[in-house]
Amino acid sequence: MGSRARSEAAGSDAASSGRVPVRIAHISDLHHDGSPTRRAAIAEALSEVLRVEPDAVVVSGDLTDDGSRDCFAEVTELLAPLEGTPTIVVPGNRDVRQCLPEGRPAGQLRRAVRSMREVDAHDLVVGDAPSPLEFARWFGAANLVHRTDRLVVVGIDTNRSVPRRVLASAREAFLAAPAGAMRVLVQHHPLLPVPDKKLAGGDITRNAGDLIELAVEAGVDVICSGHHHRSHVASIHWEGTHVQLSMAPMLAVSSDRKHRGYHLIEQVPGGTRIQAIRTDLPAPAPAAGPSHAVR
Ligand SMILES: [Fe+2]
Repeated sequence: MGSRARSEAAGSDAASSGRVPVRIAHISDLHHDGSPTRRAAIAEALSEVLRVEPDAVVVSGDLTDDGSRDCFAEVTELLAPLEGTPTIVVPGNRDVRQCLPEGRPAGQLRRAVRSMREVDAHDLVVGDAPSPLEFARWFGAANLVHRTDRLVVVGIDTNRSVPRRVLASAREAFLAAPAGAMRVLVQHHPLLPVPDKKLAGGDITRNAGDLIELAVEAGVDVICSGHHHRSHVASIHWEGTHVQLSMAPMLAVSSDRKHRGYHLIEQVPGGTRIQAIRTDLPAPAPAAGPSHAVR
């Protein structure tokens, strides 16, 4: 069943069954640099995110500015309030700048915060050596699945061309999703450019076509990405199916040209709604930006 038909069924299922629709907070590009200013901004933004009581939080990479152990340690502490909310994290290009010393036993790389990410996860690349990156010390696998009866999220590391076996495992996970469950793919690199950002090499997912093919074939509802540091929502239509692209801004950093905030993704009757929430406005509560197209 295509995404369109399946998502419409998901929306109406949730509405007619009395089941509470899924609500996801999509955050990205925290870029923690170790400074007290950035630390305070991230903490404040995360408390705003939690106020909307999401069913899950997806973090599409660049949690740190430089991939250093100190920044990972601090950002892990900053994410601690999310404990209890399934949190799916993938690495961004900034997060993979520093590697662990070679020969480190794999078992020692998996650490405490792994348990807070999900309730039913497994590595997509079962049997593979774990990532040699500092990221793995704090967050475990860079490719993972989170699955409940209402939601399937697959996180993929796009810092390299996504291997065929990972694409196949992701496809399998989505196709096995329970009827009516929302299907979400999370990756750092976007699949499309945005109008107001000049692209540099490596800004777009290397094998973007493979990811788009996976999404349309496996009925993915939303692909969440970061890296552009701008809030954009787009759609890909293909042979009667359609996939929404949620490209989130930086969570806690803004400038004259860039707003900070996050995206709220919700099942609504008839589809999925993605809403840009700005956290840089002088309002007592998060202010909603333009509501992006549902369908
Ligand atoms: Fe990035």
